[in-house]
Amino acid sequence: RFTPRVFSGIQPSGGLTLGNYLGALKRFAEMQGDGFETIYCLVDLHAITVWQEPEKLRHQTREAAAAFMASGVDPSRSILFNQSQVSAHSELAWVFNCVARMGWMGRMTQWKDKTAGKNAENASLGLFAYPSLMAADILVYHATHVPVGEDQKQHLELTRDIAAKFNHDYGTDFFPITEPVIEGTATRVMSLRDGSKKMSKSDPSDMSRINLTDDADTIAQKIRKARTDPEVLPDTPDGLAERPEARNLVNIFAALSGSSVEEVLADYAGQGFGAFKPALAELAVEKLAPISGEMTRLMSDPAEIDRILGDGADKAEAIAQPILDKTLEITGM
Ligand code: ADP
Ligand code: NA
Repeated sequence: RFTPRVFSGIQPSGGLTLGNYLGALKRFAEMQGDGFETIYCLVDLHAITVWQEPEKLRHQTREAAAAFMASGVDPSRSILFNQSQVSAHSELAWVFNCVARMGWMGRMTQWKDKTAGKNAENASLGLFAYPSLMAADILVYHATHVPVGEDQKQHLELTRDIAAKFNHDYGTDFFPITEPVIEGTATRVMSLRDGSKKMSKSDPSDMSRINLTDDADTIAQKIRKARTDPEVLPDTPDGLAERPEARNLVNIFAALSGSSVEEVLADYAGQGFGAFKPALAELAVEKLAPISGEMTRLMSDPAEIDRILGDGADKAEAIAQPILDKTLEITGM
């Protein structure tokens, strides 16, 4: 009944990282032409749930658009746009704010993590309601599939809960129950400084992440300084079970080279990080240099990026507006 349609977004709240590339952008590009319509969004309304410097946000939004395109998202095959340019997202989010329950939001681990040890009274209301806007992002397109990293699985569950409760409360089957598309290894790239935290653009330490704009020397230096242990690499993946930092570097190698963890270990078992890190750095530079080069080229013409995003917004709106209109009609407005 629903058109196979993929929706996903990334916050332009900082420069994008290797984690965003392996966990999101690379897969977004691969999903084009897989029998899905693909809709990708720079979620600036989500970004401002935490205060953003206005000029930086504008720059980062364009840069994130460049990162999508440099990673292979083709605006002639996918819809690529900026969330704030399609007002149906915010309007549907309000309806969903009235469907979702306070208790559901309060149980989100990302909300708990982001307010842990701080005064939650001081967090923005937007940060609390974030998953409701995310549900609107997805459901305003009747998206059937959402590629998500592990970190966003719980929010997608909430999207399904909101769709089901809306359908139940209004006696309809208007909204699809969206399926997650979760991939195996290295969908979760961890911090280079702490194997228990995900690599993130919002981590205060720049050494914890590889940015898509980092040059070759910076990439090599960050990998050289990545936290590891003094052991050699094992023969099999279970030998990495209690070694999160080592496992992360092997996972990154596997994801970048398109091979399995077993294959990587078959090549490097018995070797220490003195040998493995330079090989990883070389591979990372080889894979990321074309992306950062293309980003630089695209960023030299910001007007062209704005034109592409404006065009994407028009296409997005053509799908979203009728779905919003119908939602309002169902709710009696
Ligand atoms: P960030 O944590 O860098 O702010 P976002 O929350 O904007 O990233 O996430 C954007 C997309 O990138 C999501 O699909 C998310 O699952 C993916 N992603 C973010 N960080 C990682 C990571 N370290 N490993 C794998 N995927 C990630
Ligand atoms: Na985030």
